[in-house]
Amino acid sequence: MKGSIRPLISILFLIALATTLSCRIFIGRRGQHTAAAELGSNRALIQNFNSTLLKFAAIDIGEEKSKLEIDQLLELNFGSLGRYKAYAAWRRFNEHDVKPRNSKGFSEMLRSPKFHRYWLDFRRNLQDWARKKMFQPDIMMDLVRLVKVPIDRSNRTYKSCAVVGNSGILLNSRHGKSIDDHEVVIRLNNARIEGFEKHVGSKTSISFVNSNVLHLCAMRKGCLCHPYGYNVPIVMYICQPVHFVDYLLCNASHKAPLLVTDPRFDLLCARIGKYYSAKRFLEETAGKSLGEWGPTHDGSMFHYSSGLQAVMLALGICDRVSMFGFGKSTSAKHHYHTNQKGELRLHDYEAEYEFYRDLVKNPHAIPFISDEFKFPPVVIYQ
Ligand SMILES: *[C@@H]1O[C@H](CO)[C@@H](O)[C@H](O)[C@H]1NC(C)=O
Ligand SMILES: *[C@@H]1O[C@H](CO)[C@@H](O)[C@H](O)[C@H]1NC(C)=O
Ligand SMILES: *[C@@H]1O[C@H](CO)[C@@H](O)[C@H](O)[C@H]1NC(C)=O
Repeated sequence: MKGSIRPLISILFLIALATTLSCRIFIGRRGQHTAAAELGSNRALIQNFNSTLLKFAAIDIGEEKSKLEIDQLLELNFGSLGRYKAYAAWRRFNEHDVKPRNSKGFSEMLRSPKFHRYWLDFRRNLQDWARKKMFQPDIMMDLVRLVKVPIDRSNRTYKSCAVVGNSGILLNSRHGKSIDDHEVVIRLNNARIEGFEKHVGSKTSISFVNSNVLHLCAMRKGCLCHPYGYNVPIVMYICQPVHFVDYLLCNASHKAPLLVTDPRFDLLCARIGKYYSAKRFLEETAGKSLGEWGPTHDGSMFHYSSGLQAVMLALGICDRVSMFGFGKSTSAKHHYHTNQKGELRLHDYEAEYEFYRDLVKNPHAIPFISDEFKFPPVVIYQ
């Protein structure tokens, strides 16, 4: 009997594993719209955006696959679950703290209100999230309400924010004190600060992570996902829908808010990331067509980096944004805190640097963001 156990959670994990590093989002196709309509603005006319490029950036190659994955997860409803699958999910939600010895204990578990409640929560969260996925150029103006207010119940923007990227260029930078001098310090993907304080600072106001990071630390009992303490708010974007399991597990134990980024905000970031990558591809490979961009950028796996979305978040909730630890140098490690050698191909860091340079010098050259949005000043520290 035991041998036939096919836990729901292993199905979830299989789905997760199949795309372990995938952080992709689906984007609605826009059809034959003009550049101006793509942007929901007249900036397109002023900036003379190339509409072919805009349309290309608005298409997501993996959209269908992602929708299918969400549908499959939603269909695994509690009533139709194989009992073993239900059992496994229940165990996961219970953090492995109850082990039934026989089939009677097992049936009791299936009827457990605790499991049922978690399962319904999972479905509800996933459903709400999937429903909200659409392009909305003025989502930037909503970030205070969506993120700042839940964190500190105030709709005043932060005076100054430091976004600390994890590049190895931080080592020997001695930026620690200037980072900590900001009202708010945003850190990425649980990067360690112990031992690096002189260069990266020691204050953390917001921890920004992707859900792959949370998934890895949530597998341990008790959700060991609080490197900066239980009182530091976490903002997370969902890489894979199944990670709502991890979200619910960790949300229950985290004291400060654990917020999932609005999927409309994710879509905006996805378009910007892809736009800059495609634009750079055309500029650097004279003669190649956009059709060749996919195969050289992991196609449907392509995704903006966590750093890009953390910077976008800061733009929406801060009066001034300073960026530290973004950039590379041949003499620097990829991450200041790990020995990871190469970088992931699914990100296009050079393209993202181009975006950051536009933020500093020419924010009007950035497509997809509503005209109404006022970009705060941005400074990049090397
Ligand atoms: C826009 O970019 C595409 C793809 O590179 C190119 O073929 C087209 O000529 C460009 N259009 C304009 C108006 O520059
Ligand atoms: C901020 O909140 C106050 C009350 O809490 C409200 O009166 C005000 O309109 C809000 N401002 C914005 C910009 O939302
Ligand atoms: C997450 O936790 C907070 C605080 O305990 C709670 O108010 C909120 O409803 C939880 N979110 C979900 C989706 O369960």
